[in-house]
Amino acid sequence: MLLARDALERARLVDSLVAAQTESAALQAQLVDAHREAGALAERTRLSRDIHDTLAQGFSSILLLARGSRSVDGDEPLRDVLGRIEATAGDNLAESRRIVAALAPKSLTDTGLAAALERLAADLSADTDIAANVRVEAGVPDLTVADQVVLLRVAQGALANVRTHSGASTVTLTLGGSDRQARLDIVDDGRGFDAVAWAATQTNPTGHDLSTGGYGLAAIRARLRERGGDVIVESEPGDGTAISASLPLGLSSTGGAE
Ligand SMILES: Nc1ncnc2c1ncn2[C@@H]1O[C@H](COP(=O)(O)OP(=O)(O)OP(=O)(O)O)[C@@H](O)[C@H]1O
Ligand SMILES: [Mg+2]
Repeated sequence: MLLARDALERARLVDSLVAAQTESAALQAQLVDAHREAGALAERTRLSRDIHDTLAQGFSSILLLARGSRSVDGDEPLRDVLGRIEATAGDNLAESRRIVAALAPKSLTDTGLAAALERLAADLSADTDIAANVRVEAGVPDLTVADQVVLLRVAQGALANVRTHSGASTVTLTLGGSDRQARLDIVDDGRGFDAVAWAATQTNPTGHDLSTGGYGLAAIRARLRERGGDVIVESEPGDGTAISASLPLGLSSTGGAE
């Protein structure tokens, strides 16, 4: 009997080890993608600054010189040529400004995390009857790619729970924060669970109690704590579930986006 339990325990341990390895490999792949994307964004920013500082400035100088020279008394054909130089420089100045504006990326928070959260929400809504919404509050800080990946993982874990356990009709993800910390709340109106009892099972140092089998919330908490953040899980049976993840800013050195 004892032997059978040991074997079961060992099998679960192996299972969770394999799951952790798979998870870690997937995260690694996602980070590589995120870094590549960040590299491309950084290159566009550089290019747009270069065009702004060289071509656009040059056209602007030509325009002003031509305009200045035209106002000086001179022969009519020369004034005509100067007029055309001014107009051509003006057109090209406007064109290079358009290119600068098109190249300059929006902040990574706009293009990266918010878009990824929207995709997760859209997938959930498409697969289930749960209406998933994303809100991005004003003043969300710019996040490093590494921090964005952490928050994306939190959202994936929380939404996996909403999908399988909640029976909710709506879930809202809210991205907010200040210049010191980022916050991601995932709130559903489903059946809820006893969060106090869950917290009491989270006793071992890895935060994962093998006897409960659940790995998702513990992984969320561990991932946030690794970066100096934390998660608050609020839920009661019959009363929905609220997960609030927070991450301090300015600690990461692996973002590479700024
Ligand atoms: N949004 C939710 N609505 C209702 N119950 C939830 C919700 N999130 C978590 N729970 C409850 O908390 C338990 C622990 O969640 P956790 O994500 O840690 O493990 P799991 O989902 O059971 O397993 P795993 O994530 O490893 O597949 C769940 O089994 C479920 O009972
Ligand atoms: Mg889970």
